[in-house]
Amino acid sequence: MLLFKKTKDLQDYLAKAKKQGQRMGFVPTMGALHEGHMELIRRSAAENDLTICSIYVNPTQFNELSDLEKYPRTPEKDLLLLREVGSLIIFFPSDKEIYPDGPSNAPLIDLGHLNEVQEAAFRPGHFDGVVQVVHRLLSIVQPDRLYMGQKDYQQVLVIRELIRQKLPDTTLVMCPIVREADGLAMSSRNVRLDTGFRQKAPLIAATLETAAAQLPEKAIAEIKQEAIDKLNEAGFKTEYFEISNADTLLSVGQLSREADLVLSTAVWAGEVRLIDNLLVPINF
Ligand code: PAJ
Repeated sequence: MLLFKKTKDLQDYLAKAKKQGQRMGFVPTMGALHEGHMELIRRSAAENDLTICSIYVNPTQFNELSDLEKYPRTPEKDLLLLREVGSLIIFFPSDKEIYPDGPSNAPLIDLGHLNEVQEAAFRPGHFDGVVQVVHRLLSIVQPDRLYMGQKDYQQVLVIRELIRQKLPDTTLVMCPIVREADGLAMSSRNVRLDTGFRQKAPLIAATLETAAAQLPEKAIAEIKQEAIDKLNEAGFKTEYFEISNADTLLSVGQLSREADLVLSTAVWAGEVRLIDNLLVPINF
């Protein structure tokens, strides 16, 4: 395992590896690593000669200062986990290395509808910050493949758009959601759940499953309302529960078997915001 803190040092190292024809996979993270992150890293390590994992808590994608301040930071533990994977390159930059001219979440590309719905509607500026940092990281690392998790499905669509518009030589690989044994999607924020909400949290994934199972029989508006009621009755505050076209995130009003669907939700579990989603292929 090699650790770089300076952009220039990392770039010099990667330039040499590239000259030798090594294929590179890249996994950007904000640290506080769990099995969800580790799956992406192991997949990249299996599919590429060299895997680069960045750990950087990007300030420009947090629309609430308190969320940024409370975001878990566990660098020593992260490095211990990463050591198990073997030959990895870790990039652990400071703010100055990523934003030499100061932090920015200025819109780099027009994301259209993707920057208006679901996560974007409740976290203004979030995806502009994500695009800024991922663009910067991709420009530094210049990987062949970029690995991202379905856990943040809308983020995957946003980065797909960034790659289409600005970095078409990179291949985006989406990896499935890794869950706890009881179904809760793994997230760095889960450690902040109190005991009561941790016990109730599997209801989020279960509600997505129930809604998907009802798609063939019930009206979509009814399915969504029942899901929201169920989550709210359990004590969550539901921000959205959407059923949309998995390619465009346009909300669907009635069942069509012409496109894959995605069911997605964001809820507050006390002070902690959790998201989850479920992909439903056309011929389910
Ligand atoms: P972070 O939340 O640390 O997630 C890093 C990557 O791990 C993302 O691609 C995310 O989708 C994936 N991931 C997280 N939990 C997962 C799970 N349970 N199963 C599968 N994959 C999971 O997402 C970010 O960081 C940032 O926005 C980033 C892209 C690094 C830009 O700052």
